[in-house]
Amino acid sequence: MVASVKVPNSARGSLTSSVPAEQMTEIARLFEHRRGGYSLEAPFYTDPAVFRLDVQAIFGQHWVFAASVAELPEPGDFVTVDYGPYSVIVLRNDDGGVNVMHNVCRHRGARVLTESSGTTGNLVCGYHSWTYSPEGNLIHASAPGETSFDKSCFGLKRAHGREHAGLIFVCLADEPPTDFDETAEIFEPYLAPHDLAKTKVAYQQNIIEEGNWKLVMENNRECYHCDGHPELACSLFPTWGLTDGLIPAHLEEVWERNKKAQDALIDRCRRYDLPHGVVEELDTRVAGIRIARDSLDGDGESFSSDGHRLSKKLLGDLRDFRLGRCSMHLQPNSWFHFLSDHVVTFAVFPVNEHQTLVRTTWLVADDAVAGVDYDLEKLTHTWKQTNLQDKAFVELCQAGANSPAYEPGPYMKSEYQVEAFINWYVQRVREHLA
Ligand code: FES
Ligand SMILES: [Fe+2]
Repeated sequence: MVASVKVPNSARGSLTSSVPAEQMTEIARLFEHRRGGYSLEAPFYTDPAVFRLDVQAIFGQHWVFAASVAELPEPGDFVTVDYGPYSVIVLRNDDGGVNVMHNVCRHRGARVLTESSGTTGNLVCGYHSWTYSPEGNLIHASAPGETSFDKSCFGLKRAHGREHAGLIFVCLADEPPTDFDETAEIFEPYLAPHDLAKTKVAYQQNIIEEGNWKLVMENNRECYHCDGHPELACSLFPTWGLTDGLIPAHLEEVWERNKKAQDALIDRCRRYDLPHGVVEELDTRVAGIRIARDSLDGDGESFSSDGHRLSKKLLGDLRDFRLGRCSMHLQPNSWFHFLSDHVVTFAVFPVNEHQTLVRTTWLVADDAVAGVDYDLEKLTHTWKQTNLQDKAFVELCQAGANSPAYEPGPYMKSEYQVEAFINWYVQRVREHLA
């Protein structure tokens, strides 16, 4: 299902205009002279001016993952997502599409919706009760004594929204990047069999990591640190990202098991006509992507200690529990694991240069019953623990970047996807500054 709303955004002021020219020259120099194969210089993670530029060049320009359809299934359902200085309303409309609006009242700027999710008819600002239709048109504003007040000039500012395979993306740019169509064509056949429209939210977790958003994304792009994830390592082969010739001695046995499990998974994918191959275009297109279906250890079904299923209900059209994980990474702010019995979505929303909201959402079949078909604690255990461990790793790196002793270090071979993410980021900002 694809639904999109295309209404041009009003022109916004330039964030860089608030950065003194001298400082902008220094920031542009940092981007120009970034050393390939090495982590970024400290200001990329610590400087508020670089953060303002990130918000403008990345989060203000590109398609950002906001929510899945399971979070707003019915007309009137909404979520609000905040990143940097922005707050955005994503609202399911009567036509089945999504309306995306800036959550900024056109009277004196109050936040119109203050909840992170809910259901609404019209949108009523809590300050002076200006009332907007679900399309954002101002339909009521008490104006005693006003004779020339034209309500049609004060609708909520609109932005772009689109939905692919049950995932909703928003873009604040006047003209969104167009190659997202091609990216969506790549991932839709992988995700469609899991049918997110027939799922429900089992649990959602919001954590603030005391680290720059890029550190959060970088951390997710490698498994070099996976010794720090004992719960995850039960089912996710810790050889992820490695190839023959890069396997350390202590992982050789795991590697052999991984290869056998992958061969068996490929056979099953062929049987069920499921795409499984790796598509990796992390820094070769504007809407960067990596997607693949990979085997899981143990029973090969889910993120549990023995790889056994965590929900008894299969998702969508799937006919087999033993389908590993279809994992997707999308630039700039999301990654996903689609399993046969549940889906986990991860959205990264920067707060400021040293804080990032990470939102994790567990989805199960809409007819799965908590306590009968799945145990919520067991369903969420692995990734709750893994998120806490990752939060600690990210925060250690932020502390390092804050130190005068920090200097960029070399990426190892197994960290090639971290480098690809950084390549993508640097390239996008450079294009923006050009
Ligand atoms: S600020 Fe919203 S009605 Fe006044
Ligand atoms: Fe991790």
